[in-house]
Amino acid sequence: MKTLTSEKLTIVGAAGMIGSNMAQSAILMGLSSNICLYDPYSKGLEGVAEELLQCGFKGVTITYTNNIDEALKDSKYVITSGGAARKEGMTREDLLKGNAEVAIQFGKDIKQYCPEVKHVVVIFNPADITGLLVLLYSGLKPSQVSTLAALDSTRLRNELAKHFNIHPDNVTNCRTYGGHGEQMAVFSSTASVDGKPLNDLIGTPILTNETWKGIKEKVIQGGKRIIELRGRSSFQSPAYLSLEMMQAVMGGDKFNWPVGVYVSSNKFSNIMMAMETTLDKSGVHYQIVEGTAEEQKALEQSYRHLCNLRDELIKSGVIPEIDKWNSINPNL
Ligand code: 2OP
Repeated sequence: MKTLTSEKLTIVGAAGMIGSNMAQSAILMGLSSNICLYDPYSKGLEGVAEELLQCGFKGVTITYTNNIDEALKDSKYVITSGGAARKEGMTREDLLKGNAEVAIQFGKDIKQYCPEVKHVVVIFNPADITGLLVLLYSGLKPSQVSTLAALDSTRLRNELAKHFNIHPDNVTNCRTYGGHGEQMAVFSSTASVDGKPLNDLIGTPILTNETWKGIKEKVIQGGKRIIELRGRSSFQSPAYLSLEMMQAVMGGDKFNWPVGVYVSSNKFSNIMMAMETTLDKSGVHYQIVEGTAEEQKALEQSYRHLCNLRDELIKSGVIPEIDKWNSINPNL
């Protein structure tokens, strides 16, 4: 099997639904010929590894371990879904306290066991905050840590395709920015439907303001809907999209969706959130997001919501004040 790289790709949380799906997809996508699976739950991990080995894939070395040091040693690419998953009735933000501790420890593990890693993708929720904590404690540069945010934009594409009863490929440039949570900013000004700007369609009989409002709500509640349908949190889409992100970092196909990135600008700072970005061998880089006044307002609200989550952690002493961050990670 031809792969993009022979450098080690570590999948953290590999015994879980996202992680196991990711391991299989990473092999099918030909990302790395050296895949290491990590999970503290050793029985489930062995099960996943056995299944993958029994697929009979050629040209790929699959290893697995429940020792984090061994899993991260010499790893150049790491994707982690290794936090608690969202259950019915929970928001992504409800996971904050428990998963914050997991993210902090994981950041420290990266620093200790694979400081030479090229890129880390963080998926577990609330991803904007867990990603921020991994960045803070790993000592990596902001360009080296990204979070999964694309799922909301792909959900917007899906909802619009269903509404207009057209192929999803004909709905282009769907974008949500800000947090991957209850307060995300769903943009309309970037998207086109069958070549027509979405903004020209909103407020007309084919897409009334009321219906557009409903579509936005469906996007925001997309993860909740999957839990209702399947009895468990989404796993196929986060697994695939985060691998597409890593593929771009490895020098493969471009990634065409927003990415969660550390933002430090005049307007938004010391936060990780979905922006317009490029992902390539040099990591993740963002551009300033343009939008209508209403969209900018939604983005600011989303940013403030994330700041409140971050500040909750500061107030409760889980992480230090922002002016101390630089002593933990000189790159911030
Ligand atoms: C989702 O939105 C849980 O973040 C995951 O489906």
